[in-house]
This record gives sequence, structure tokens and C-alpha cells, in this order.
Amino acid sequence: MAALFNCWPALIHFFSIFSFFLLFPVAFSDELQTLLSIKSSLSNPTTNVFQNWEPNTPLCKFTGITCNSDGSVKEIELSNQKISGFVPFDKICSLTSLEKLSLGYNSFSGQVTDDLNKCVSLNYLDVGNNEFTGSFPDVSSLSELTHFYANNSGFTGKFPWNSVANMSNLIVLSLGDNQFDRTPFPEVILKLNKLNWLYLSSCGLEGEIPEEIGNLKELINLELSMNYLTGEIPSGITKLKKLWQLELYENQLTGKLPVGFGNLTSLEYFDASTNNLYGDLSEIRKLNQLVSLQLLQNQFSGEVPAELGEFKKLVNISLYTNKFTGQLPQKLGSWGNFDFIDVSENSFTGPIPPDMCKMGTMRGLLILQNNFTGGIPETYASCTSMTRIRVSKNSLSGVIPAGIWGLPKLEILDVAMNEFEGTITSDIGNAKTLGEIDAANNRFSGELPFNISNASSLVKIDLSNNQFSGEIPGSIGELKKIGNLNLQYNKFSGSIPYSLGSCVSLSDINMANNLLSGSIPVSLGSLPTLTSLNLSENQLSGQIPKSLSNLKLNLLDFSNNQLTGEIPNSLSIDAYKGSFSGNNGLCSQNLKNFRRCYGEAGKPREWYTLLICLLVAVIVVLVSFAGYLFLKKKSSKEHERSLKQNSWNTKSFHILTFTEDDILDGIKHDNLIGKGGSGSVYRVQLSDGTDFAVKHIWTSDSGNRKISGTTSPILGKPGKKSKEFEAEVETLSSIRHVNVVKLYCSITSDDSSLLVYEYMPNGSLWDRLHTCKKMSLDWETRYEIALGAAKGLEYLHHGCDKPVIHRDVKSSNILLDEFCKPRIADFGLAKIAQADSTKDTTHVIAGTHGYIAPGKIDLRNRQLPISSNIVS
Ligand SMILES: *[C@@H]1O[C@H](CO)[C@@H](O)[C@H](O)[C@H]1NC(C)=O
Ligand SMILES: *[C@@H]1O[C@H](CO)[C@@H](O)[C@H](O)[C@H]1NC(C)=O
Ligand SMILES: *[C@@H]1O[C@H](CO)[C@@H](O)[C@H](O)[C@H]1NC(C)=O
Ligand SMILES: *[C@@H]1O[C@H](CO)[C@@H](O)[C@H](O)[C@H]1NC(C)=O
Ligand SMILES: *[C@@H]1O[C@H](CO)[C@@H](O)[C@H](O)[C@H]1NC(C)=O
Ligand SMILES: *[C@@H]1O[C@H](CO)[C@@H](O)[C@H](O)[C@H]1NC(C)=O
Ligand SMILES: *[C@@H]1O[C@H](CO)[C@@H](O)[C@H](O)[C@H]1NC(C)=O
Ligand SMILES: *[C@@H]1O[C@H](CO)[C@@H](O)[C@H](O)[C@H]1NC(C)=O
Repeated sequence: MAALFNCWPALIHFFSIFSFFLLFPVAFSDELQTLLSIKSSLSNPTTNVFQNWEPNTPLCKFTGITCNSDGSVKEIELSNQKISGFVPFDKICSLTSLEKLSLGYNSFSGQVTDDLNKCVSLNYLDVGNNEFTGSFPDVSSLSELTHFYANNSGFTGKFPWNSVANMSNLIVLSLGDNQFDRTPFPEVILKLNKLNWLYLSSCGLEGEIPEEIGNLKELINLELSMNYLTGEIPSGITKLKKLWQLELYENQLTGKLPVGFGNLTSLEYFDASTNNLYGDLSEIRKLNQLVSLQLLQNQFSGEVPAELGEFKKLVNISLYTNKFTGQLPQKLGSWGNFDFIDVSENSFTGPIPPDMCKMGTMRGLLILQNNFTGGIPETYASCTSMTRIRVSKNSLSGVIPAGIWGLPKLEILDVAMNEFEGTITSDIGNAKTLGEIDAANNRFSGELPFNISNASSLVKIDLSNNQFSGEIPGSIGELKKIGNLNLQYNKFSGSIPYSLGSCVSLSDINMANNLLSGSIPVSLGSLPTLTSLNLSENQLSGQIPKSLSNLKLNLLDFSNNQLTGEIPNSLSIDAYKGSFSGNNGLCSQNLKNFRRCYGEAGKPREWYTLLICLLVAVIVVLVSFAGYLFLKKKSSKEHERSLKQNSWNTKSFHILTFTEDDILDGIKHDNLIGKGGSGSVYRVQLSDGTDFAVKHIWTSDSGNRKISGTTSPILGKPGKKSKEFEAEVETLSSIRHVNVVKLYCSITSDDSSLLVYEYMPNGSLWDRLHTCKKMSLDWETRYEIALGAAKGLEYLHHGCDKPVIHRDVKSSNILLDEFCKPRIADFGLAKIAQADSTKDTTHVIAGTHGYIAPGKIDLRNRQLPISSNIVS
């Protein structure tokens, strides 16, 4: 017996061990099954987190799973694993001890279901940064939550704010970047007094920010940017003494910074850009922890407080487009790792602070359009971190420190419209990343250095309106990326270098008003993308090279030179008739105002021409008479009458070789080649055989009238020809790129518009791929088409003055020319069609001056650089 009694402890021990090994697996085998079925409904081909989620692995060893001491699942951590599929919330929430569910940064889709309510023990929920759909469910039962992330995850509809009321322990609430229905600021949030982190940017908030925001005394981060908030910044906000970041940009806030704002002395990041705030910055004086101050696009005025010059942590300051006056504190930016300043478009005066690059970290000096005086301080000549210097439109003077020209990371140097003098130094050879020099309208002089050719990234050089002299260096031919070369109004002499013909990207050459002599190099005829050539007001002599006939120029100006000989036939067209004036030695077979040329035999050709003219005239008269009779008979030609009766207004964007009537005559049923979402398209052939594609759009309520049997579809939403339409057309008109279809002109009347495009004989890519007009496209051609279309898009996004977003890129909008080179077409028309029916104006995002607003690059970088290839 005694022995048996002695055994008890051992037995107990045995049973406890037994139960540990046996009972647990029994109790939680359900959870194992649950996890396996969760795995089976998701897909994760790349990172394969689920590799060890196998029946014979203990579930606590599964990647991403943490267990309680009793072996039940406590945490699921699967964030940032490239997982996709529908999340089975019902299964997940059958894990009764689950406290943390972290699914952020994946590609989960479908709905977040009501089942989430069963996860009553959750204190950490992250479903942010996914691709869910539908509205977010009421989750009132999740009252234990401390962290709640659902930001940027595709949710729509009404957010169930009341369910937040039960989450009294909430520390983080992050719901921003979802397309929730508009709502006033949810009062329930104001009771969550443990909140540290409140992220409600871009989620439909409207109305005023309540005064009681001051209750949330623990807040360190408050982000309410990109909503529809109105009224003033409430003074309650000044009670948030722990605030480290305050983001209010892109709302409609007005008024001054509240009194007491200066009490927010922990503030490091403050952004209230793009509102209607006014008043001065005296409340900022005490905020000496500021790292980033962004107040661009408001109505602030007064001087920048001197104290900002002492802020030791300041890295970024952006105040552009306000009404500031006075000088900048001279010690500004001289302490920390200063990065960007943009104070453009104010009325600042005085010198540029000299020490912003003291730590060698500065990247942007943007002070366009102010009244700064003095020079660019010598200190910046060694600022090797600098990428953008834009100081145009000031009253700056003196010589630009030599080193500036050769800064190794510089991308844009814009010193235009000042009073600078001196020359471009040979340091420029070190500027390997420099894409754009704009030095126009200054007093620069001297020669262009030979080793400008070593600045091989140059895309644009504008030296117009200066006193540059000497020969244009032949080395310029090395600049393979240069697209835009503007040297007009200088004193360049000698001849135009033959090597210019090697600058294969040139699209625009302007050397007008110089002292250039010699002949026009034949090599210019081989520039594949040249569209504008202005050599007027020089002393050029010799013949016009026949090679220029190869070019497809929109602008040609050789006027006021000393050119001689025959104007090549293809240039002898009316469109160019002003292009040759002031060259007494030129002759032409068919241009008026020029003397006729004599043929080889020395015989005048005039009688011959006369005869042909007569013949043509007779034929024309006969044909028109016949046509007149024909038309008269067919009196049902309603539309032609209605078109011709209108008074039309033509706006041309390129040199036109046709008249308004040529086009109007071509708008008839026989010429109809397509009807798209935004209008009917006609192929109009001129008498000389050139084709144009003309899009006919009705813009008023006559839109349902019949045009020769076709209903013109401006989509049931008629309205007056809007400003947007005109702005849009103008944007399109300025686009010059080989991969974007060319818009020649718009012809508008009160109730309809015609857009005249170049005609693309090979139709659309879609046609080529899908219809009977199919032709075999080999892979090489397909690749070229894809590449060309991408280049066109890149140009639209980064190359034009105003970035253009197409929003409807598809194979039917990619047209093919005779060599199957692609051109993007039909852009913006989606917007034209919608302009009156919706308020969506995001189609064309207008840049201001082409400078980048520091900070928040990914969220609201509306300021894209002007010049192509330069994207910083
Ligand atoms: C958005 O959610 C992610 C998790 O999905 C989180 O890491 C991030 O901090 C949140 N962003 C903000 C601004 O709250
Ligand atoms: C949420 O809170 C309300 C009142 O504060 C309470 O009536 C309700 O039961 C709570 N809901 C849940 C699911 O806990
Ligand atoms: C700023 O804070 C000080 C000290 O905490 C306080 O006395 C003062 O009233 C506050 N000012 C405002 C305008 O809230
Ligand atoms: C610069 O100053 C001049 C006179 O000093 C003034 O006429 C001009 O408007 C100022 N320009 C700007 C942009 O403030
Ligand atoms: C530029 O030219 C000068 C002399 O003309 C030469 O000393 C210098 O090394 C050149 N720089 C580069 C980058 O080629
Ligand atoms: C600079 O350009 C010249 C002529 O264009 C070339 O010969 C030379 O190799 C280049 N130097 C450097 C350092 O690239
Ligand atoms: C060519 O440049 C001169 C000088 O700037 C200008 O006057 C002329 O209008 C330009 N030609 C065309 C066709 O634009
Ligand atoms: C400063 O601005 C630059 C450019 O916008 C940005 O890349 C950088 O992150 C900003 N730095 C801070 C500390 O905000």
C-alpha cells in the first residue's frame, strides 16, 4: 500500500505529461484544420509563407502564427506577403483566442464580412493596403481593439462610425485613403481619448473640424489631408501638446493659424498646403522642432519670422504661391541636413540665404518668380548634392559661380529672366545629369564652351535673348538627347555646324536673329523628328538643301537671310509662303511673290505653268457647275446646309495646307469611317490626295439632329461648348511627339466641333488584331508598337507643359501609320464628353511651373517637371 501511495506523485506527473501531449492536440486539432482551410482558400505563389502549413507540422510552428501558452492561436501575422484571394473571416474568427490579425499590404480582395464581429478578442486588426471591395462592416463587438488599420484598402460606401464608439482603448485609428461616402467629422472619435494616431486623410470628411479635437490630448499624429473640410483650424488643436505631425493639406480651410498654435512645440511635420489660409507666420516662431514646413498654395502674407533661421532640424520648407514679402532669414537651413526650399511665386526680396547647403545635403533651390536680388552665392558651387536650381524671374545679377554649371547631380538649371552676366564655363562638361538649361533673357555673353558636348543628358537648351557670340561648337553633335535648342536673339556667328545633323532627337531648332553665315547644312534633312526650324534673321547664303524636303515641319522660317536658288518643290507650298521672304535670291515655280526659276535649258517655264493653270481653272469651273446641279437636285442634303450655314471658327495648331471649306465639304456620309464614344469620324481627302481624319462632335442640344443619316453621339449630355473643351483642345494642340497623333486644328461653331487629325492608314491596333482587316503582326512589330505607345504615354505624362492623363488607353486608341508605327489617339475626348455631366476634373492635371513640391511626393506631386526625360 505504502508503495502504491508512494507512486501517486509519479502517476500525477504521468497524467499531466500525458494530458499535455494528448489532450492539447485533441483540443486544438480544430484550429489546425481551420488554418489549413484558410491556407486552401488563399494563394501565395511568390513568397510561399504557407509552405510549412502542413497537417503534420505543429500549428504553433506555422509561419506567421503565434500561440498562447495553451497552444491556441493568438496571432496571425501575414502582412506584406503578396497573398491574394478572399479572406475567410468566418474561419479566422472561429479561432476564439485570436488577439492579432495582421493582413496589411497584400492583395486580398472581396468583402470584409460581418464574421469579423466574432473575433471578439482582437486587439490588433490590420486589413490595410489591400484590394477589398464594398463597405466596411459594422464591427461594434471589437471593443478590445487598440490598433485598427483599414487604410488604403478599396472600401467604399458609408463607414460604420458608431462601431468605433465601443473601442475605448483605441490607440491607432487609420482609415484614410478609402472612397467612403462624404460625412461630417465623426463625433464618436472625439471620445477616444487614448488615440495617438488618427489617419483620416482622403476619406470623405466634410464640414468643420470640431473644436473638441482638443480632447484627444494623446495625439501625436493627426492627418486630415485631402478631404472637404471647411471653416477655420479650430483653436482646440492648440491643446494637442504632444502633436508631432499635423497634416491638413488639400482641404478648403480658411482663416489664420489659431492663436496658441505656437504651443505645439513638439511639432516636427506641419503641412497645411493648398487651402485658403491667410495671415502671417508669427505663430510658427516657437515651433523650433520643425523638420518640414509646407504651406504652399495659400494666401499667407507678411515676412518669414527670423526665428526660422535658428531651427536646427529644418530640412524642407515650401511656401510657394503665397503672398510673402521681405527677406528670408539668412541663416535658414544652415543647421540640419537641409534638403529642399521652394518659395516660388511670392514677393520675397533680398539675397538668397547662403548656407542652406552647408551640410552638403541640399537638393532643391526653387525661388522662381520673386524679387530676390544679388547673385547666386558662391557656396552653392560646391553643393554636389544639388539636383534642381530654379531661380528664374527674379532680379538676380552677377556672374554665376563656375562650379554651378558642372554640378554632378544637377538636372535642371533654370536661371532665366534675371540680369545675370558672364558666360557658361567649361565646367559644364561635368554636368553628366543635366537635362535642361534655361538661361534665356539675361546678359550672358562669351562663347559656348566646346565641352558642352560632355553634358550628354541635355534635352533642352534655351539661351535666347542674351549676348552669346562666337561659333556654335561642332561638338554639339554629340548631344544625342537634345530635343530643343533655342539660341535666338544672340550674336552667334560662323556657320551652323554640320554635326547638328547628328543630334537625332532634335525637334525644335531656333537660331533666329544671330549673325550666322554660310549655308544651311544638308545634314539637317536627316533629323528624324525635327518639327520646327527657325533660322530667320541671319546671314545665311547658298541654296536651300533639297534634303529638307524629307522633314515634316510644322514651322519653317528662313526669312531675312541671303539664300539663293530654287526653293525645293515640296517646300514651295502656300503654308510656307512667309518662310522665305527677305531672301532676294530665291526663286520658286509656284509660290507667289517669288520670281520664277529657269529650267536647265534656260527656257522660261511661265507659259507652261500658265497653260496648266488655265486648264485646271476650266476643269474646276466645269466640275463645280456639275456639282452645283447635282447638289441642287439632291435637296435632302440637310446637314451640308446646316454645316455650311454655321459660322465657323478655326484654330490651327500647325501649318495648314487646307481650308475650313475643304474640311466641311468632306463631312458627309460617304466619308464616314467610324463612330466612337465621342463622335463620328470622317476620312477627308483633299484634292492633292492628302488624307485627314476629322472627328465631328456636337456640343449643344442639337446633338440629336441627324447628320446625313447618322446620329451624332455626344452622349446625351449636351451642353454649351465648355471652357474645358477649349482648354483640352489647346493641351492636345501643343503635343508634338511621334507617338501621339497630331491634331492640326479645331473648327468650332456654336453647336458642333470638328477636330482635324492626321490620317492613319493602318487603322487601330485593335483592328489589326481582331477584325477581318487583320494583318500579320510579327513579334518585332508588336514589340515596336508597345514600345512606341509607351513612349507616347511617357511623353504625355512627363514631356508636355501640362501632364496629360489619357485614361482610356486601349488597343483601339492606338493607331498605326503606314509603317505600323503607333500613335496614341483619342485622348481627352473622354473628358470632353464628360465635362458637362460630371465634376470630375482629374483628366488633365495642370502643373504650375514644372517644379516638384517637396514632400508628399507620392500623394500629391502635381508639379511634374516640364522637360522630357527629367523625372525626379
Ligand atoms: C496604413 O496601414 C498600414 C498597415 O496596413 C500601416 O502600416 C500604416 O502605418 C498605415 N498608414 C497610416 C498613415 O496610418
Ligand atoms: C457597443 O456599445 C454600446 C453602448 O456603448 C452597447 O450597447 C453595445 O452592446 C456595444 N456593442 C457591443 C457589440 O459590444
Ligand atoms: C500656451 O501654453 C501656455 C503654457 O502651457 C498657456 O499658459 C497658454 O495659455 C497657452 N496659450 C494658448 C493660447 O493656448
Ligand atoms: C519686384 O519689385 C518691383 C519694384 O521693385 C515691383 O514692381 C514688382 O512687382 C516686384 N515683383 C514681384 C514679383 O513682386
Ligand atoms: C573641358 O574642356 C577643358 C579644356 O577646354 C578641359 O580642361 C576639361 O577637362 C574638359 N572637361 C571635360 C569634362 O571634358
Ligand atoms: C568630352 O567630349 C569630347 C568631344 O565631344 C570627347 O572627345 C571627350 O571624350 C569627352 N570627355 C569625356 C570625359 O567624356
Ligand atoms: C522665327 O523667329 C523669329 C525671331 O524670334 C520670330 O520673329 C518669327 O516669328 C519666328 N518664325 C515663326 C514662323 O514663328
Ligand atoms: C524633403 O523633401 C524631399 C523632396 O520632396 C523628400 O524626398 C524628403 O523625404 C523630405 N524630407 C523630409 C524629412 O520630409
